[in-house]
Amino acid sequence: MSNADFETMLDTSDEWIVSRTGMRERRYAKATEASSDLSAHAARHALERAGVGARDIDCYIVATCTPDFQFPATACIVAANLGAAGKPAFDIEIACSGFIYALPVAASFVRAGVFTRVMVIGVETLSRITNLSDRGTAILFGDGAGAVVVERTALANDSFLTCELGADGKNPELLCVAAGGSRNPMTPDLLVQKKDTIQMSGREIFRYAVTKMVETSKITLASAGLETSDVTWMIPHQANLRIIEAAAKRLGVERSKIILNIERYGNTSAASIPIALSETIERGLLKAGDLILFTGFGGGLSWGSILWRWSA
Ligand code: ACO
Repeated sequence: MSNADFETMLDTSDEWIVSRTGMRERRYAKATEASSDLSAHAARHALERAGVGARDIDCYIVATCTPDFQFPATACIVAANLGAAGKPAFDIEIACSGFIYALPVAASFVRAGVFTRVMVIGVETLSRITNLSDRGTAILFGDGAGAVVVERTALANDSFLTCELGADGKNPELLCVAAGGSRNPMTPDLLVQKKDTIQMSGREIFRYAVTKMVETSKITLASAGLETSDVTWMIPHQANLRIIEAAAKRLGVERSKIILNIERYGNTSAASIPIALSETIERGLLKAGDLILFTGFGGGLSWGSILWRWSA
């Protein structure tokens, strides 16, 4: 979906969208594709790159707010579709912060010796919960998936240095899909009001996002005894170019160190960081020893940052 596509549907313009968000295109899944399908695709790439089979993964974690069904967990379907039925599998639902929460969970399982190898998938089909007649949200969201394999290595130093996570559920309506859950079960009326789609207070989220990305990044760096200048790559949640630029400026991270792909995918929520990570690897940018700062935020509200020393 290009900005030009939206120009034909809504009172908006390419100029407005690019200048306010940095987005030019997003990808929408085919009508026949669900989150588990996008997940399996990303997972196969990750398995291939890691040189392991689906049954070598001890646990599957899917971070998503657009699961195939309200239940069962999408991770169960993905594992089965990959040929790994029987392996433990579960979802983490914390909207755009999904990957930021799921990666430390996987790393902690591995560090604690519970599992040797865990797959984390960030996936969304946000096109299914986007109100295409609301110009304030429609232009923002896209579909996608990214996957990583987290495994125990013989290296003396742990890759997972530290994380700082947080959430504040005092005002869930700031960013939510209001109907279809136990608070507001779906009714014909709510459907007419499009309460099955994303509602968002953009300006409040914007302010919160910048503050929390900066705050948690500083805490992780301080707790690891590192400085901003030690960061090799900042891989932020791709929600809005202006949010990323404002956070990077306050942190003092140079533009050349920020991984950006928002232009092509828009906001893919829990998928955005693993997609960006995957592209960073494909571009040959990551080297052993590089320090990655992952940072993001999302519905909840929720937020977090992770410091990760690349060891592959
Ligand atoms: N095209 C043209 N005009 C628009 C559009 C559009 N697509 N959308 C809004 N406008 C208008 C508004 O109606 C408003 O007009 P008005 O002044 O006449 O009332 C004007 O543009 C300015 O609107 P703002 O909301 O102040 O615009 P802002 O600069 O804040 O940008 C945006 C809006 C892009 C949504 C921004 O606030 C933002 O990115 N917020 C954070 C969003 C975000 O990160 N969400 C995370 C979701 S992640 C998850 O958990 C799913």
